[in-house]
Amino acid sequence: MRITISAFIVACSAALVVASPVQAPLQVEHEAGTAITARPKKLHGRFLHITDMHPDPFYTAHSSTKRSCHGKNPKKKQAGYWGTPDAECDSPLRLTNFTLDYLDKHWAGDIDFVVWTGDNARHDEDHQIPRTPSEIFDLNRQVAMRMEKIFLKRGIPVVPSIGNNDIWLLFASNFPHLNVATWQQNIMTPGPNSITNEFVSIWQPFVPFPQRQVFQRGAYYSTEVIPGRVAVISLNSIYFYDSNKAVGGCQYNEREDAGNLEFDWLEVQLKMYRNKNMLVYLSGHIPPSPGMYFPECYVRYVELSLRFQDIILGHLYGHMNVDYFSFVEEIDLEIIPNEDPKPDRAAADGLYETLMSEFAHLPSESDEDKLDGLAAISVAPSVVPNPFVPGFRIFSYNVSSEALVKPTGKRNHGHRRGRRGDKDKHCQEEQYSRSWKCHLDQPWHSDPDAPSRRNQAFTPLGFAQFYMPDIAEANKTHPPHFKLEYLTYELTALHPKGSGDEKFVYPVPVRQLPRSLRDGKKESSKYAPYSMTDLTIGSWVGLGRRLGAEGYGKLRRRFRKYMFVSV
Ligand SMILES: *[C@@H]1O[C@H](CO)[C@@H](O)[C@H](O)[C@H]1NC(C)=O
Ligand SMILES: *[C@@H]1O[C@H](CO)[C@@H](O)[C@H](O)[C@H]1NC(C)=O
Ligand SMILES: *[C@@H]1O[C@H](CO)[C@@H](O)[C@H](O)[C@H]1NC(C)=O
Repeated sequence: MRITISAFIVACSAALVVASPVQAPLQVEHEAGTAITARPKKLHGRFLHITDMHPDPFYTAHSSTKRSCHGKNPKKKQAGYWGTPDAECDSPLRLTNFTLDYLDKHWAGDIDFVVWTGDNARHDEDHQIPRTPSEIFDLNRQVAMRMEKIFLKRGIPVVPSIGNNDIWLLFASNFPHLNVATWQQNIMTPGPNSITNEFVSIWQPFVPFPQRQVFQRGAYYSTEVIPGRVAVISLNSIYFYDSNKAVGGCQYNEREDAGNLEFDWLEVQLKMYRNKNMLVYLSGHIPPSPGMYFPECYVRYVELSLRFQDIILGHLYGHMNVDYFSFVEEIDLEIIPNEDPKPDRAAADGLYETLMSEFAHLPSESDEDKLDGLAAISVAPSVVPNPFVPGFRIFSYNVSSEALVKPTGKRNHGHRRGRRGDKDKHCQEEQYSRSWKCHLDQPWHSDPDAPSRRNQAFTPLGFAQFYMPDIAEANKTHPPHFKLEYLTYELTALHPKGSGDEKFVYPVPVRQLPRSLRDGKKESSKYAPYSMTDLTIGSWVGLGRRLGAEGYGKLRRRFRKYMFVSV
């Protein structure tokens, strides 16, 4: 699949004139045998997170939004030329193409890898044109081919994960107890099956050869994005998702359940990367949270996140089409009889209130003991304007000169177990004895000196969120624009003044900044309300606490505006 860069993209790029800053000449050696390239590669210290593109080949400009923006001769002409925010419509291919062309032209030369968290087919809203497996796989194949061409062919690893709209249950007759309406998405049986077989082929360029057998079983895999140093573990969250009635939900006594097998595999991966002195991101489609994950799967996710907090740099998810962050916490592993169920986050309604009340209870960011029991989950907003406007996210990470030197010493040994609370008592009781909570007591390796806790080589430093505020007004002759929505950074970080290599490492290339921020003279800016020094767990907790505290009305309003990517 080939897309020519349209004249308008050339035209809009002409406006971005400032020369790209010199990048620090940091290099890492690729290990022999990695699929990527044998050349040592210069690190830019940035990566892209893109999610939920939802291309829809039936999208018709000016059609009725009441019919998923499909159809020819509508009475009401409402569907936009580039896409339709505030409606239940997917993306016109024109928007998918525009976004990928834009990334190709403006970003592919400035990033080191791509995390891509699923949903590359349309939703199944239009009952007159039901989705078919071949359409879903075809859309996925088209997007995958473009991702390969834009990034992988330039030596930039791409790590896709599977979304709940990328799948289709072919043999529904094997599941007579399932509701017909749920067959078309969300349901994925344990592999190997037609879905894993299809994706093994579609993602053949992205899934390292030695991982293919595991992939056939569960559509999860891991790949080294900075060889020998950083890996991304791409999880299949559909086996944890409580809408997937074809799996058992990680019950303790069902050890062969697809979710349990996936967590067993994840644990092995994490141990292996720790032994190799490597760091990892966990990525997937559906973010870990109560109400979306089966309760026992959630427990296993939380436990592994905390036990391996020393090597996990971050948790990157999509699915919600909402921009937010949340925490998984030690208390999620305790047994609290008659506990009120945690609020369901599956719907965006009420999510803001839930987050604010959770943030209000966060510990102090300087309480290192408490930080041992937390991990931050980042959820990026979607490309599909459903219901908000499209966006993508560019993270930066620390490529200080330490990044060149592979650490030799092993990370320190596990030193701490999660709080036992009343487990000794409750785990004797029938109702709890078969919960994972009563069976996970391996020591944690939480460590205040780990890259997730203290800024050092490979620590994520922040992100720039880009969005398309003019999508609704744009038309055939006046295409839309991606613009900076906000930054997590302090303004001073945008124009580094360090010495040596470091002074060249711009978290956001200057030409990608709005004019008002390019000369580095601004002391405050609407683009940078958070002023986070980095994305360590402590910094996330600090932001959470500021949002949770009363009296921060202005900051909260910004957060809420960004959450619902509103213009
Ligand atoms: C999008 O790109 C694909 C692949 O290059 C092309 O076949 C298709 O015509 C494009 N669609 C639009 C609407 O630009
Ligand atoms: C990167 O980490 C080093 C410590 O290894 C620190 O001195 C430096 O300030 C960090 N760089 C940035 C841009 O935060
Ligand atoms: C497209 O949008 C521009 C700017 O809003 C407007 O001037 C122009 O008339 C529009 N063209 C069409 C065909 O609607």
